[in-house]
Amino acid sequence: MPKKNQTLGEFIIENQSEFQYSSGELSRLINSIRLAAKVVNHEVNKAGLVDILGTAGETNIQGEDQQKLDVYANEVFIKTLTNREIVCGIASEEEDDFITIKGRNEKNDNKYIVLIDPLDGSSNIDVNVSVGTIFSIYRRVTASGTPVTMEDFLQPGNLQVAAGYIVYGTSTMIVYSTGHGVNGFTLNPAIGTYYLSHPNMRFPETGNIYSVNEGNYIHFPQGVKNYIKYCQQEEGDRPYTSRYIGSLVSDFHRNMIKGGIYIYPNTSKDPEGKLRLLYECNPIAYIAEQAGAKASNGFMRILDIKPTQLHQRVPFFCGSKLMVEKAEEFMKNAE
Ligand code: AHG
Ligand code: MN
Ligand code: MN
Repeated sequence: MPKKNQTLGEFIIENQSEFQYSSGELSRLINSIRLAAKVVNHEVNKAGLVDILGTAGETNIQGEDQQKLDVYANEVFIKTLTNREIVCGIASEEEDDFITIKGRNEKNDNKYIVLIDPLDGSSNIDVNVSVGTIFSIYRRVTASGTPVTMEDFLQPGNLQVAAGYIVYGTSTMIVYSTGHGVNGFTLNPAIGTYYLSHPNMRFPETGNIYSVNEGNYIHFPQGVKNYIKYCQQEEGDRPYTSRYIGSLVSDFHRNMIKGGIYIYPNTSKDPEGKLRLLYECNPIAYIAEQAGAKASNGFMRILDIKPTQLHQRVPFFCGSKLMVEKAEEFMKNAE
């Protein structure tokens, strides 16, 4: 049972036996994500000083080259994960192809693959609004001892062994699941320690928030247009309230706490939608389901989609169970 105020380090050790293939490696992997998140957090917190410290492409006062934060976050996560001899491959939203990691003695015998969106909501950086990191972890499916292949990365989301996100917000939090519910840890920046602040997080079964970029309304499918009108009608607990940050991690995190639905549909401009199945939708869907919520492409469960491409996009409807079911009903009726 998670104990409030426990540190993330204590929590990982205490819960290690819950992992399906408990060898301590997944614990070490989560540990390295925790470390990388601290480093990125430190840099994100300085983002407002960019005019003073130098902007991307410039050299700062200490002679360091300044980078865009998404490039920086990508490098930090990849370096941290590579150095641990646990991960055999990484795919990142920021990289065209997956990265093969050979591991100890060039043996290709590490077990896990990681998919990552190193900085989500990056357009919010310049305006001091929350951003995040999203990660997804699988066991490799090809034989140990051989280099990873595309097959290892194109696994359906229902095979994830762990997933989570970091939100660099008013507080920095890491929220993750290894298939035994969802727990949230808040960073105490003074001492660099994460504490269990949100044990066993549960998504309210319904809510009154809908989160969608309504500026794209004209391009939405008819089912989504009808659902939005339903959200705005006066009846029962409606009209719902609209909240949209434009950072999936932050929008999802708020909705998990308060109850709500997040929608990024396919549009006439982006017929597949905008969000990436492997780096964004699968890990967020995994957390949602672990917290009792739902994630769908409007018609089927996100986690059952068999990916065909690394950077595949997918329409995304995610949040309180009853709200997602209602939105799916509107999608079906508009077909
Ligand atoms: P990223 O910064 O990783 O490219 O992701 C941005 C995503 C997601 O976080 C957010 O919900 C969505 O894009 C916002 O898109 P719009 O600006 O089109 O609403
Ligand atoms: Mn993103
Ligand atoms: Mn990103």
